[in-house]
Amino acid sequence: MKAKVVDGNGNLLSSVTRRDFMKFCTAIAATMGLPMTAVPKIAEAVTSPKRPSVIWLSAQECTGCVETLLRTGHPTLDTLILDLISLDYSETLNVGAGHQAEAHREKAIAENKGKFILVVDGAIPVKDGGVYCMVAGKPVLQILNETAPLAAAVIALGSCAAWGGVPSADPNPTGATPVHEILKGKKIPVVNIPGCPPNPYNFLSTVIHYLTFGKLPALDGKGRPKFAYDRLIHENCERRPHFDAGRFAEEFGDTGHRLGYCLYKLGCKGPETYNNCSTLPFNDTPGCWPVATGSPCFGCSEEKVGFHSPLFSKAKVIFPTPPAQPVDAVPEKGSGAQKFAYGVAGAAVGAVAVALATRGGKGDGSSSSGE
Ligand code: SF4
Ligand code: SF4
Ligand code: F3S
Repeated sequence: MKAKVVDGNGNLLSSVTRRDFMKFCTAIAATMGLPMTAVPKIAEAVTSPKRPSVIWLSAQECTGCVETLLRTGHPTLDTLILDLISLDYSETLNVGAGHQAEAHREKAIAENKGKFILVVDGAIPVKDGGVYCMVAGKPVLQILNETAPLAAAVIALGSCAAWGGVPSADPNPTGATPVHEILKGKKIPVVNIPGCPPNPYNFLSTVIHYLTFGKLPALDGKGRPKFAYDRLIHENCERRPHFDAGRFAEEFGDTGHRLGYCLYKLGCKGPETYNNCSTLPFNDTPGCWPVATGSPCFGCSEEKVGFHSPLFSKAKVIFPTPPAQPVDAVPEKGSGAQKFAYGVAGAAVGAVAVALATRGGKGDGSSSSGE
């Protein structure tokens, strides 16, 4: 039976069935690592008539971060993101344009001072007074500096906003700068949700955490929500047994590649990238993440890996060394990850563990690009 979900005022929240709605709340709780007892609280918060105002600024970006949110495979997600928040300004999604849109932004900011969430996608150019990204005749640098101090929190969405991303690639002609650096010293909470694009569930879960608990989720040393960025992709990768067994694709399209072997020798950066791609596929579709499709992880969500690799700069990346000898893929005790971590499978694996340990500090800012 189809039951419609209504908000606290009895208005139709969206055209989702109750079952789909509860599935959505359960998925959000699971993404944040919350117990199932949190699901009713999340459902209550999401259907609350009091929707937080969200102002969304776009700077130097490709619109991929917005697109990924809108094109998610969940049938109700786009409806929910538009229903559970009050999206008062977004250059991509605004119905109005020009003076009308700008007037609405100023009105929403004035009415929700200290309470709205500011989302920024794209890097902020600072060279030459910020003239390389103008919105409504103003540098976006100026708009950010005027708007952020009035917000409850700022979410830097995507690797461009979080780290500078593509626009900051060498030689960075526009002085593209991450949002948190622009706001440094202003005591404004900034959440980084990196990725190119980031998984929309990580963004939604952050917003819903704020809605449900009235505060931001726990963040790591780089301002990323711990629930999404506290593990290496390599730890939970479906190709990990092949890594442990020393089975690698050597070339794109070779037998190993077609058999789903580890992509390490094709440049996979899963062993140095903190993200939940290997456990939370895109578009709610199993297998919808780079490594599952045969593409090595590019490290798109890391500060100094993806866009500062030789593809985009003169930086030299040093890969950790894969096992020289095949090792037993089936651990005698504990998980493959434990076996790998403690080097009990032999000196070759131990050497990799040491290499990884010295290269990737867990969310503490020590992730290395080899630059
Ligand atoms: Fe586009 Fe990637 Fe930048 Fe998002 S992070 S705006 S998808 S280039
Ligand atoms: Fe997966 Fe890449 Fe690690 Fe291989 S190196 S197990 S493909 S994350
Ligand atoms: Fe990006 Fe690597 Fe995930 S390329 S989308 S961090 S698998």
